Parts: sequence; C-alpha cells; structure tokens
Amino acid sequence: MKNVLLELEERRRKARLGGGEARIAAQHQKGKLTARERIETFLDEGSFEEFDMFVEHRSIDFGMADTKISGDGVVTGWGTVNGRKVFLFAKDFTVFGGSLSEAHAEKVMKVQDMALKNRAPIIGFYDAGGARIQEGVAALGGYAEIFQRNVLASGVIPQISVIMGPCAGGDVYSPAMTDFIFMVRDTSYMFVTGPDVVKTVTNETVTAEELGGASIHTTKSSIADGAYDNDVEALLQMRRLVDLLPQSNTSEVPEIENYQAVDDIDKSLDTLIPDNANKPYDIKELILKVIDEGDFFEIQTSFAKNIVCGFGRVEGRTVGFVANQPMVLAGVLDSDASRKAARFVRFCDCFNIPIVTFVDVPGFLPGTSQEYGGLIKHGAKLLFAYAEATVPKVTVITRKAYGGAYDVMASKHLRGDINYAWPTAQIAVMGAKGAVEIIFRKDMGDADKIADHTRMYEDRFLSPFVAAERGYIDEVIMPHSTRKRIARGLRMLRDKQLTNPWKKHDNIPL
Ligand code: HXC
Repeated sequence: MKNVLLELEERRRKARLGGGEARIAAQHQKGKLTARERIETFLDEGSFEEFDMFVEHRSIDFGMADTKISGDGVVTGWGTVNGRKVFLFAKDFTVFGGSLSEAHAEKVMKVQDMALKNRAPIIGFYDAGGARIQEGVAALGGYAEIFQRNVLASGVIPQISVIMGPCAGGDVYSPAMTDFIFMVRDTSYMFVTGPDVVKTVTNETVTAEELGGASIHTTKSSIADGAYDNDVEALLQMRRLVDLLPQSNTSEVPEIENYQAVDDIDKSLDTLIPDNANKPYDIKELILKVIDEGDFFEIQTSFAKNIVCGFGRVEGRTVGFVANQPMVLAGVLDSDASRKAARFVRFCDCFNIPIVTFVDVPGFLPGTSQEYGGLIKHGAKLLFAYAEATVPKVTVITRKAYGGAYDVMASKHLRGDINYAWPTAQIAVMGAKGAVEIIFRKDMGDADKIADHTRMYEDRFLSPFVAAERGYIDEVIMPHSTRKRIARGLRMLRDKQLTNPWKKHDNIPL
C-alpha cells in the first residue's frame, strides 16, 4: 500500500512540474505565473479539484513518442470563487508552448461539458500557441470540438477568457466565441498567426505588441474587454467579475448584502448638468452615485469611450449600465459605440441582468466615414438588442435624446419598463439650431426672426414635457432622487415576465 501511495505522490509531483523547472523559471522571468499558480490565485483557497492530471498525448510523429508530459499542457478542473462554483482550464506554456493536442482538447472538452451540465461559469486562462503542429488534423479536430461547445454554451453559462501569454490560432478563436476577453499588458498577445509567419506571408515587419498586444485589442480592434498590468491583478479582477455574474441563464442574479441606503438623496446630482447644454459632464459620476458603494466593473473602458458599459449593484443585485458619455464626442452614437453597447445589452439579456440606461445623446454621427463603415447596420445592432431584450429595462434621460438615438436608447417604444427624465431633458428630433435652419430656411437672412424661432423651438421641444404629455416618459424626476427611483423600479420589476415569439433564433444585423 505504502508503495502505491508513494508512487501517486511522485506522479503528482512530476505532473505539477509541467515542462520542468527551467521552463517554469523562464515563465517567471517573463513576469508570468504558471498555469497552476494562476488557478490558485483565482480560486478560493484550497477549493481546486483537478481532473485528468495524468493524461498524456498519443502522438508518435516527429519523435513525440519520447516526449510525454503528464497533463499535456493544460490544467483543468473546478473550484469556487467566494463560495460559488466555477469550472476552469489553464493552458501550461511550459509544456509544448501550451499547444493543443487531441488529448489536451479532450481535457478542455470534459470541463466544458461539465460546466454546461452543471450550469456554472467556465473560465479559460490562455497562454498557448494554438494547434500542436506535430498532431496535424487531430489537433484541428480538437479545436473544432471545443468551438462547437463554446457555441452551445453561449447564452447558457457565462464564458470568460483571460489571455495571459502569446496566443495564436485556436487559442484566439475559442476566446473570440466567449462572452468576455481580458488581457495582461506587455505579456499577452492575440493573433491568428505570429509576427514570423506574417513576415513570411505578407513581408510585413511587425512586433508582437503591434500585431496583437493589449494596447491594440483594447483600443483598436475591440477584441479585448479590458487589460490589467500583471497576472495577479487580472486574476483578482476576474474574481470580481465572476462575483457579479449569474451562474447560468436560469439562475437569479447574485445578491449580496448592501450596506448603502437607497433612499438617501444626493444633492450633488442636481448640479451635474451644466447650464450650457453644449458643455460636457462625466456620466460616470452619475453611475457611481447610483450603484452600491460606487463599485463599478466597466467593460471596454478604452474603446468607443462615447458610450459607457459595465456592471454594478443596486440593493446588492447586479445591474448592467449603459450610458452615453457627453465627455467624448458629445456622447454621439457611432458604429463602434453601437456595436460595443449592443453586445453588452445582449449579454445582460441572456443572463437575466436588468439594464439601466442613462441617455444624453445628440444623435448618430453623420458623415461618409461612418456611412461607408456601415453605421446603419451597426446602429441597427443596438436598436435590435434593446428591442429584443426582455429583462427589466429602466431608462433615465438626463439631457439630450435626439432623433433616432432617442428611439434606440431603451425608449418606451422598445418596451422600456420605466422611463424617467430629469427636468433638464431635451427630447426632440434634433437640437434648436439644426431644426430652425431646416424648417425656417426662408428666414435665414433675418437674425431677429431666427432668434425668435429658436427661442420658440427651445421652449416647446427642448424639455421632457412633450414626451411626458404622451406618456413616453413615465415621470420627470429630481436628479437627487435617481438612485432611489431606480432601486424602487428594479425592485418592482423583479418578477417581470415577458417572452418573445418562438423562433429558432433571430437574425440580428451582424
Ligand atoms: C507545437 C509549439 C507550438 C505549436 C509553440 N510551440 N507553438 N509546439 N505546436 N503550435 C512550442 C515551441 O516549439 C517551443 O518549444 C515552445 O512551444 C515555446 O515556443 P516559442 O516559439 O519558443 O515561444 P515564443 O517565442 O514566446 O512564441 C510563442 C508563439 C510562437 C508566438 C505562440 O511559438 C508561435 O507563433 N507558434 C505557432 C503559432 C501558430 O501558428 N499555431 C498554429 C495555429 S493554427 P521548445 O521545445 O523549443 O521550448 C490553429 C488552428 C486552429 O491553431 C483553428 C482556428 C480556426
């Protein structure tokens, strides 16, 4: 008996070493943790249950029969984050660069299946070079099986990918099908193929950072939803995110104890909107004052900053916030902002997370560059996402709600449940200058007449009351009571029931 126990210990010790001490040291040298260290940092202490520690690849080509390493480049299993169950896998770069063999794929598929069957989030920590070249089509087949599972789990359980090293091929395509991708600055890269292959195929000389670093994917491509300075920070932030998310599409949103009263008024909000309607203000100030303890998890902070998306809690329960940001491009809706918010709204709707929308939008951004880039289709994505969403939707118009953007931003007409406006709201087809120039074109040479028309237009249309008279706004509220009104609204809507007509799936304008 004793010998068997000793053998088990010895096998475990070897497996835990992955690609060996030298490769672990190299990993640390680059400022990266190993796969197992990442799991330990991410999960509650002592909660990790590992699967398939002794799995080895079955490849014999290119001398591979002599290079078997227990675990085969990925550590898989489950554990808890603040007591709640999560499944995970962590690619081990020290073993064949974390590349994916047939056996490695089977390990990932096993936890994907378990996560789906047991209705809990799955998190992948990526640090890997894609399909194991020595295995050829067996590796490609393995990826396709993983992709298929990504798709089947989409909208059923949250799927999160954290890119923590150089990742290529299947190790970027699988993350691309998950709900969120986060990266680590300076040590992680995402590309279909690396700089060497790029040089060979296109003769383009490019660094890994320029091709697919966090700086590119959080600002230009919008592939990544956020980036952190190091592994530890990324892992701790992922705990924060997981805490906010429901376990599955049939679970309630998580609820934690809330220590901040919701009926306290906040007088500072009464002066948030500047006297001059063209002056910017920071919409994040409103978000931070409405959510519990100002604890906001923002998504895509550095991309399309003219719209803010993220999670917070109200009365201890998760809420998704979408808000036009007057500080950037006056909060206009362009293609990037529309795509960013549409995806966020759809995530919230998949997982029963109520959506609070703050509106201050001068319209869609006009011009050839937007039109050539498909603004109509991208804007339609956000319209589509809000219109199909059946979760509780609470909207507050703080200032401008002009034109089509008024319709799009969770208006009453798109089944907004509670639509409030601040007294400073201006709900109209467009601002005064543009409107007067069109409908009083014949008076354009007469400054006095134009001033009269402008005043008349502003008095009549640049207020919340025309909309309120029609019931498009449920109530004009005092800014200082916004947290209380939203909290009461969300409480009232907890048992909301609304379903869309049966369909195989919709055909969102992709
Ligand atoms: C087998 C691999 C490998 C791979 C890396 N290694 N990628 N082994 N298959 N795909 C091994 C290396 O041989 C090396 O082994 C070790 O991992 C570390 O790799 P390095 O190149 O030394 O590291 P680094 O310089 O940091 O570069 C990392 C990298 C690069 C950028 C990931 O290795 C790379 O470009 N790899 C190939 C990427 C790729 O094109 N993959 C196939 C994609 S196709 P030793 O023993 O020397 O330490 C794909 C299909 C999926 O994935 C389908 C998509 C739809």
